[in-house]
Amino acid sequence: MAKEIAVTDMSVDQAREALARLSALLGQANRDYHGADAPNISDAEYDRLKRRNVAIEAQFPELKRDDSPTEQVGAAPTEGFGKIAHKVAMLSLGNAFENQDVADFDERIRKYLGIGREPLSFTAEPKIDGLSLSIRYENGEMVYAATRGDGSTGEDVTANARTISDIPQSITNAPGVLEVRGEVYMSHADFEALNARISKENEKLEAVGKKPKTVFANPRNAAAGSLRQLDAKVTQERPLRFFAYAWGELSEPLAETQMGAISQLQSFGFVINDLTKVCDSPEALISHYKMIEERRATLGYDIDGVVYKVNDLALQERLGFRSTTPRWAIAHKFPAELAWTELEAIDIQVGRTGALSPVARLAPVTVGGVVVSNATLHNEDYIAGRDSKGATIRDGKDIREGDWVQVYRAGDVIPKVADVDLKKRPDEAVPYAFPEKCPVCESAAVREEGDAVRYCTGGLICAAQAVEKLKHFVARKALDIEGLGAKQIEMFYEDVALPIKTPADIFTLAERDASNLMTKLAKRKGWQDKSVRNLFAAIEGKREIAFARLLFGLGIRHVGETAAKDLALHFLTWDALAGAAEKARPAALAWRSADLAEDHERTAAQAEGRRAKVKESRDAAMAAYAVTAESQTAWDDLTGIDGIGAAVGLALTDAFANERERGEIDRLVDMLTVVSPDAPTQDSPVAGKTVVFTGSLEKMTRAEAKARAETLGAKVSGSVSKKTDLLVAGPGAGSKAKKAADLGIETIDEDGWLALIEGL
Ligand code: IVH
Repeated sequence: MAKEIAVTDMSVDQAREALARLSALLGQANRDYHGADAPNISDAEYDRLKRRNVAIEAQFPELKRDDSPTEQVGAAPTEGFGKIAHKVAMLSLGNAFENQDVADFDERIRKYLGIGREPLSFTAEPKIDGLSLSIRYENGEMVYAATRGDGSTGEDVTANARTISDIPQSITNAPGVLEVRGEVYMSHADFEALNARISKENEKLEAVGKKPKTVFANPRNAAAGSLRQLDAKVTQERPLRFFAYAWGELSEPLAETQMGAISQLQSFGFVINDLTKVCDSPEALISHYKMIEERRATLGYDIDGVVYKVNDLALQERLGFRSTTPRWAIAHKFPAELAWTELEAIDIQVGRTGALSPVARLAPVTVGGVVVSNATLHNEDYIAGRDSKGATIRDGKDIREGDWVQVYRAGDVIPKVADVDLKKRPDEAVPYAFPEKCPVCESAAVREEGDAVRYCTGGLICAAQAVEKLKHFVARKALDIEGLGAKQIEMFYEDVALPIKTPADIFTLAERDASNLMTKLAKRKGWQDKSVRNLFAAIEGKREIAFARLLFGLGIRHVGETAAKDLALHFLTWDALAGAAEKARPAALAWRSADLAEDHERTAAQAEGRRAKVKESRDAAMAAYAVTAESQTAWDDLTGIDGIGAAVGLALTDAFANERERGEIDRLVDMLTVVSPDAPTQDSPVAGKTVVFTGSLEKMTRAEAKARAETLGAKVSGSVSKKTDLLVAGPGAGSKAKKAADLGIETIDEDGWLALIEGL
């Protein structure tokens, strides 16, 4: 290799040439390292090249390239995969941990369907710990395969899926459109062999001073890494397998039952899991679960639980989905894996709601294939050895810095601390004193009666809360602004010339930068014309934003992704939501005070006379807050949305009533175009209509009728008003039917309703 010229001796041309070469070299190394996993230079060499690049740039700042490697953090996002929108969303499953959860699942379904003790059967099958894949066939030919992605859009991994021998390329006698879904996984034996092969190759790489490839931590990672290979030839060398267990779009039904449909997939040439069984009761499900758990270690592939699905597909159809999970299926997870390690320190994090959350910093330990170095400690009672009701947990043992603790992981959730080994407690360990001041802004941190959590009272003056709120606002599931991540938020929050203190500030950033003559963002360290342009474009691109994303992004307490989606679907426009929150306010306040009063009564007065007193306190509260019928209807309507309870209702009405918060929300919304969710079936005859159900329904429960009407785009209300479009009245309908008649509102019976929505 030619000797390198010292930077100080370089001519302009030499420097320009060197920068071009370094950019190419470092870019390739980045891509190899993060993408194709075959790095061709050592870490030391990589660092040396990077330093040389910096030195040349310092000497010749005017030559700094647009694609300068100094500006690149890690690799560019993997660009290679195309995106595929799923015709039918790929959802996840709710979890059950205890036997009781399984009994509750059965009960919930019976109640929803209103089928009493009638027979109800389920399938039970292993939950494979891999990654889900959807494969589309048209006229028997595979057209594409896509990963789950965010559930609505996945990555096009067709070329890779074609290398998996469990997946047929073409099928005979299949429906015209068939989307088969299932799990891609790697067997234990193949995983060991792959890692052994990598280790062996690494010996050679190390011998010549090259960077070794990472061995995979577990079969799931190995399967994911292999399926998401840009080069299908690499995937082909990785032995992946596939179990089919579900489907997406179909041009005709596969069967009448889950079991029948799965067998049909088998007849098309797919591999189905032979531990799939039909069970007639929760007890039978649990006994099959135990059987699978006993065999777990000898199956030869990783599973993390057992999935139960309602067997009758017509019932599955009736049960439908909550926003991200089906009502007709649940995953019964295996108990978590455990490990002991040392708790080095307890840190307090201040979240976006001001909650002080204690976090255990642990000596790193492997729990179920994953290295864990942090665990949640929930709250101060948990650390002290008490639960939220004051009862002892862990036999009353408290948790101290320096303790040996048992850590567990259940599913993908944050690891938790289960137990403490008192025998190993250091002599100098002292009980943990939970801070009564916010560690960030030093405001008082208070804990209200009946609340397990201590909250910083600093509100927006607390930098931690403000910054966390902003980070949440730009996060992937919220506004998802490219180039504006947690790191940049922290920077802009502190920035004097161009601060971002609230979400609305993000949308004035470009304008403020343009009128700022002193310190243009593009002139600053770490920024350049291109990155600034990209950032502003990304922000501009989010001026038009989906209702649910915006609502979720505001970070209102209890309003998670699901609640935000449910609310958006119900209200459809931002103004409708804001109006409802305002109207419902007095009723919400009355509800809150009456609810607390009721709790009081429960301990004071005994059963006798309690009802009367509760009613009395409700009435008193209604009077105290001057609750109008309109307010009560708005509150009932809000908390009557499937999945929205009083906690969400209260938090929402609080947020819209809080002057400062409301001011911020309005300032933000004024700058945006809020996009209403697609009404699920626009062409349904009830889309956009307000429907009221009254009287008793005989062929479906109230909850089912309501959920069904909402999926068809209708708005379901609890009371009849001028805005009502349709009343569905069963036997025993009373005042509502009369009112509807008075107002001249169309009224039909249950059969009429079913006929109306038939075939949708
Ligand atoms: S059914 C609509 N069955 O678990 C529900 N999922 O936690 C469709 N999984 O994303 C899923 N084994 O990747 C189903 N036998 C099984 C499964 C299974 C593994 C995965 C799947 C899903 C996740 C949900």
